[in-house]
Amino acid sequence: MENKSNNRPAPAPRVFSGVQPTGNLHLGNYLGAIRNFVTLQETYDCLYCVVDLHAITVWQEPSVLARHTREVTAAFLACGIDPKTQIIFNQSAVPAHAELAWVFNCVARMGWLGRMTQFKDKAGKHQQNASVGLFAYPNLMAADILAYKSTHVPVGEDQKQHLELCRDIAQKFNNDFDAPDFFPLPEPLIQGPATRVMSLRDGAVKMSKSDKSDNARINLNDNADLIAKKIRKAKTDPRPLPESEEEATTRPEADNLIGIYAALARQSRGDVIQQFAGRSFAAFKNELSDLAVAVLAPIGEEMSRLMAAPDHVDDVLRDGALRAAAIATPIMDDVKRIIGFVR
Ligand code: TRP
Repeated sequence: MENKSNNRPAPAPRVFSGVQPTGNLHLGNYLGAIRNFVTLQETYDCLYCVVDLHAITVWQEPSVLARHTREVTAAFLACGIDPKTQIIFNQSAVPAHAELAWVFNCVARMGWLGRMTQFKDKAGKHQQNASVGLFAYPNLMAADILAYKSTHVPVGEDQKQHLELCRDIAQKFNNDFDAPDFFPLPEPLIQGPATRVMSLRDGAVKMSKSDKSDNARINLNDNADLIAKKIRKAKTDPRPLPESEEEATTRPEADNLIGIYAALARQSRGDVIQQFAGRSFAAFKNELSDLAVAVLAPIGEEMSRLMAAPDHVDDVLRDGALRAAAIATPIMDDVKRIIGFVR
C-alpha cells in the first residue's frame, strides 16, 4: 500500500472510536454508532473506548460514573463486539490519553478550539463557568485517536468538526517537530443512511439521553413491553403513511419512524415506503414494534445479565487496557523523544 502523495508506505489501518459513559444509551447510539462498530471489526483492527476522562468535563457522580462505564462496556459486548479480537477499554486506565492530551494542549491554538460548535452549544451563555476540560475536550479526543496512530474514525455528523481539528493537530505536530508522517491524518468513516434517529415525541430534535421524557427515546436496556409501548405512543400526524420519499421528508415524525424501520430491517427508506405506502400508522407501528423488539430486546437482556454480575465486564476492561497500553506506550516513547523530553 502506498500513499499517492509521497510514496511513503501508508500506515496500517486502525479504527478508534469512543462513547461517553453518561447514561441512557439509546436507539440513536445503537444505529448511529455501536452497530457500525460491530461491522467494522470484520475489516479493521479496532479500539473501542469508554471515554470516562471526557465524561468528567461536566460533573459526574462517582458511583454513577462507574456504573455507566460498565453499562457502555456491557452494551458493546451485548451488541456483538468481540473483546478477544478487538480492544475494549476505558480511557482513564491508559495513561497515554492524558499525557498526549497535554502535549496537544500545547499544539492546538485557542482560536481553533474557540470555533468548536459543540463547546459553544454545551457551555451556552456560561462559558466563564465551563470547566477548562470542556474547552480542551477536542484535544483529548485527538489524543485518543493519535495515541494509537489510528487511521479511521467512525463518527457521526456532530463529531466531524472535532475530527477535523484532530487532523489539524496531527499536521501541526508533524510540521512543528519536523517529523513528517509521524502522526497519520485520520479519516472519518461515514456510515450509511438513517443514522440520525430523532425523538419519538418530536421529529425535529435528535433522540437524546437528556430528553426529559423517557418516552422520547428507546433505551438499549428497555424490555420488550416498554419498547412496544413507546412505539405505540410515538407521535405521528393524522395521515396514513407517505406515498413517496419526497412526501416523507415533509412529515418529520413519519420520516423518523420510517428511518428507524429501514435501519433496523437493513432496508432502504424507499423500500419501506413502497411496502407501507398508504397504510395506517396503527398497522405500521405494530410491525415496527415487532421488529424493534426482535432486534433490541435480546441486547437489553444480555446487558442486564452482564450488569447483574459485572466481573466479566471488569475483566474485559482490564484486559483491553493492557493491550491498548501495549500499542500506545511505544508511540508515546517516540513522542517524548521527538519533543526533547529527557528520559
Ligand atoms: N466525542 C465523542 C462523542 O461525544 C466521543 C469520543 C471521544 C470519540 N474520543 C473519541 C469519538 C475518539 C471518536 C474518536 O461522541
